[in-house]
Amino acid sequence: MTAPSDVFLPPVAPSDVQRITCVGAGVIGGGWVAHFLARGYDVTAWDPGADAARRLRQIVDAAWPALTNLGLAPGASRDRLHIVDDLADALADAQFVQESAPEDLDVKIDLLARIDALTPQGVVISSSTSGYSMSEMQVSAANPGRLVVGHPFNPPYLIPLVEVVGGTRTHSGAVAWASEFFTLVGKSVITMEREVPGFIANRLQEALWREALHMVAEGEATVEQIDTAITDGPGLRWPFHGPCMTFHLAGGEGGMAHMLDHFGPSLKAPWTRLEAPELTPELRDAMVAGCETEADGRTNVELIAERDAKMIAIMQAMQDVSRRE
Ligand SMILES: NC(=O)c1ccc[n+]([C@@H]2O[C@H](COP(=O)([O-])OP(=O)(O)OC[C@H]3O[C@@H](n4cnc5c(N)ncnc54)[C@H](O)[C@@H]3O)[C@@H](O)[C@H]2O)c1
Repeated sequence: MTAPSDVFLPPVAPSDVQRITCVGAGVIGGGWVAHFLARGYDVTAWDPGADAARRLRQIVDAAWPALTNLGLAPGASRDRLHIVDDLADALADAQFVQESAPEDLDVKIDLLARIDALTPQGVVISSSTSGYSMSEMQVSAANPGRLVVGHPFNPPYLIPLVEVVGGTRTHSGAVAWASEFFTLVGKSVITMEREVPGFIANRLQEALWREALHMVAEGEATVEQIDTAITDGPGLRWPFHGPCMTFHLAGGEGGMAHMLDHFGPSLKAPWTRLEAPELTPELRDAMVAGCETEADGRTNVELIAERDAKMIAIMQAMQDVSRRE
């Protein structure tokens, strides 16, 4: 394995990008196309699948009313989508590439090497992969330094999160470039320092999913009970408080510190099939410090008032949608 190349020379700054190429235009690639078009870019798409052009236009047309409601960038137009038959044509003048081909490691390795060979030097190439590491996928590319993961959530034109991470041969400059670019196109970007299977959000989703499957398999809960447990329970808090701030407030005035000291021993109780981590003093302190940073000077009383107001706003918005249906 070679080290990442020392130089990363992007031909264009993230703020100067005008042309984006999307390779693979199914559910996720099509969603990316819609997002980039709505943000006012020229988008070229290539997908070798049968009927791919019709499917792609259908995805963009279906997304467009929501995107129009949210507000299109000046000049944004579906007419700025160019669907081409040849991968080389698609990539010839690309200034950023988003790959969203099927989740198959051999396909990704081969395709990323081909994209790398056909894309102008220094242009960042990002993969939508849900779980492969870039270290696994960049092995055949001649210029692995510019390959990053930019993991979106479905649909990419509505869910803001993108997790950005490089592989062992990725240049740190490419990771920084991609993070800045995704931020400019309206994404909420998490730049990860280390590769971890499934990145952050899928690992968390997977833990919940695995537990749900255990409960159904054991006859402990029905599918409907599991979904209700989330949608009418913690799910309502999650749009604004992740699991850490949720438990920070569950600790009352003592916050996360009290929460861990009080409930820490129950980590070992068999509430989940997952192995619990050791609650070391270092882990305790890191959790408490992280919550203090997130609280950013707000007291728990202020945080609770903010949480309740947001929860009510979400519930009212959901009721409005149900009434209109
Ligand atoms: N579906 C999700 O919720 C989701 C979320 C995040 C990330 N992803 C990731 O996005 C990627 C695409 O997933 P999807 O759900 O859009 O799949 P999909 O099956 O909807 O779309 C894949 C597209 O790739 C095309 N394709 C097939 N072979 C190709 C090749 N060699 N080169 C280029 N394109 C090719 C297909 O014709 C199809 O249109 C995967 O890596 C997946 O893990 C999916």
